[in-house]
Amino acid sequence: MILINPELEQYSSDFSLKIPVEASRIHETTTEMHPHAHLMSSILQGQYLAFISRMLAPKHILEIGTFTGFSTLCLAEGLKKEGELHSIELREADVSSARLNFSFSPKNKQIHLHSGNAKEIIPILDYEWDLVFIDADKVSYIEYYELVLPRLKEGGIIIADNVLFHGKVIDTGTKDKNTKAIDNFNRHVNNDQRTHQLIVPIRDGLMMIKKNNYED
Ligand SMILES: C[S@@+](CC[C@H](N)C(=O)[O-])C[C@H]1O[C@@H](n2cnc3c(N)ncnc32)[C@H](O)[C@@H]1O
Repeated sequence: MILINPELEQYSSDFSLKIPVEASRIHETTTEMHPHAHLMSSILQGQYLAFISRMLAPKHILEIGTFTGFSTLCLAEGLKKEGELHSIELREADVSSARLNFSFSPKNKQIHLHSGNAKEIIPILDYEWDLVFIDADKVSYIEYYELVLPRLKEGGIIIADNVLFHGKVIDTGTKDKNTKAIDNFNRHVNNDQRTHQLIVPIRDGLMMIKKNNYED
């Protein structure tokens, strides 16, 4: 489902901040070569992630679902000089592509790519996260949210992708398990008093989640 007219999306992208050339290259090669290229964020979405990262200037970023590394390099844009970005990917072939792609980035030394299941890896990463991007298997979104929230800094941000799930979330009779999982996730987070939320209808929908400060 197209949420925004493609020409308006292109216009929005043209008049927004530039993403690094290494990220653009990943987008091009993945689009040309990867059989599942549709899994990758759009250019405008990458620009959005880069903008949020520059706005927050995070020290510790966690990404769940690296794929070929496009969103990783966008998220790394605002990373502090002494900061680290940890990204987790289950599929070995994508881990190898991402590792090679990161080697061309000036941020390579700050990026830590973890190969394996995010559910096992998140608990052993002992950091206080400033920014988290959830973009892996949809049925596990609530689990990822509950795993990372205790380790998210007060005022920290989680961004969850695909929260409109191709527009299917408004189909109340849906039997599709991914759509139901996303709808449950949106309700779960929106009912959570520990955070504030906003759905931004870029591409497939991004849920912005801010962890409350102590006084909120
Ligand atoms: C939508 S893609 C990520 C796209 C990427 N963030 C981007 O914008 O370019 C989802 C990725 O999550 C990975 N994934 C799925 N389940 C996972 C899990 N349990 N642990 C880690 N990665 C997982 C998939 O292999 C896939 O590469």
